[in-house]
Amino acid sequence: MVTGAAGFIGGNLCRRLVDEGYAVVGIDDLSTGIPENVPADIDFHLADIRGRAIHPLFKDIDTVFHLAAKNCLFDCLNSPLETSDINVRGTVNVLEASKEAGIGKFVYADSSAVYEGVRDFPSKVERVKPVGAYAISKHSGALFAEMYRAFHGLNLTTLRYFNVYGPAQDYRRIMPPAISAFILKIFEGNSPIIYGDGTKRRDFVYVDDVNDLHLLTIEDPRTDGRVFNVGSGANYSVIEIFNLISEAMHVSVEPILLDELPGEAEVTLADITQTLELGWRPRTNIRRGILNSIEYLKKEFESGKLASLD
Ligand SMILES: NC(=O)c1ccc[n+]([C@@H]2O[C@H](COP(=O)([O-])OP(=O)(O)OC[C@H]3O[C@@H](n4cnc5c(N)ncnc54)[C@H](O)[C@@H]3O)[C@@H](O)[C@H]2O)c1
Repeated sequence: MVTGAAGFIGGNLCRRLVDEGYAVVGIDDLSTGIPENVPADIDFHLADIRGRAIHPLFKDIDTVFHLAAKNCLFDCLNSPLETSDINVRGTVNVLEASKEAGIGKFVYADSSAVYEGVRDFPSKVERVKPVGAYAISKHSGALFAEMYRAFHGLNLTTLRYFNVYGPAQDYRRIMPPAISAFILKIFEGNSPIIYGDGTKRRDFVYVDDVNDLHLLTIEDPRTDGRVFNVGSGANYSVIEIFNLISEAMHVSVEPILLDELPGEAEVTLADITQTLELGWRPRTNIRRGILNSIEYLKKEFESGKLASLD
């Protein structure tokens, strides 16, 4: 079962699971996800994770990847009620359905945002300090999952994703993630926008590498009951990413610098010691990952699917 199956990570995960021979059930309400992300050969249900109607779908499920969430930082800051409703109440509903069905494994999609109030880098799994609405809601969901582990024997793995990027990253939203946003602006012949001075640093991890870890959570009992950082253990400034993209697209363009957005961390950097101990490695270097993202968005652009991001 993958919740958020029409989203960026969920859609990529469904495809990988199908390729590996798993039968997959997917749930998404398409609030931000898109139908094209859902592979045709999964059992897809258009449903809201907050509803009782999802419970029967968990019958005979072995593993749940709970990815559905409201996750645009700014939207979340502006609508804490809806954020907590989806990310906390929705998560508890998915946990209840999982408990009732007696599933074998629950993988919770946590976020590096829970480190936003901690200034020591690289971020270690033991110390979190969520500050904004998104981070608080993701951490609350994680704490509820932990409660189901402690009191109901849920076999839980919590994955704290850093900046996941790659093909099918959601470029349609008002504020797309930086890599997609830069590439699209260049395809449109416009200058990419950077919020702030571009010195903020982010730990980027490629979506296929994240899927390698997803598979490990199903197959490797060393992941049971534990929290893992999912990053690459290296970070790049926004300007460095911008330069890598312009170089890969063979353009010389100046970014437009606008005021900083509220609530964005200065630095993200994962301590991946424990993740590496599983034998997992981030295999895709940033240049390769950017090239793959450009290739994907080029196809979208040429097929005329792209709406203007202005
Ligand atoms: N992408 C990242 O870099 C990143 C980083 C940290 C954490 N995460 C977490 O990973 C998960 C997936 O992120 P993503 O980047 O794929 O996001 P996404 O927005 O592309 O996917 C989330 C999906 O959840 C669906 N959804 C939202 N509310 C729903 C509801 N009430 N019922 C059913 N479906 C609902 C959306 O339609 C969307 O398809 C999220 O939980 C997010 O918090 C992502």
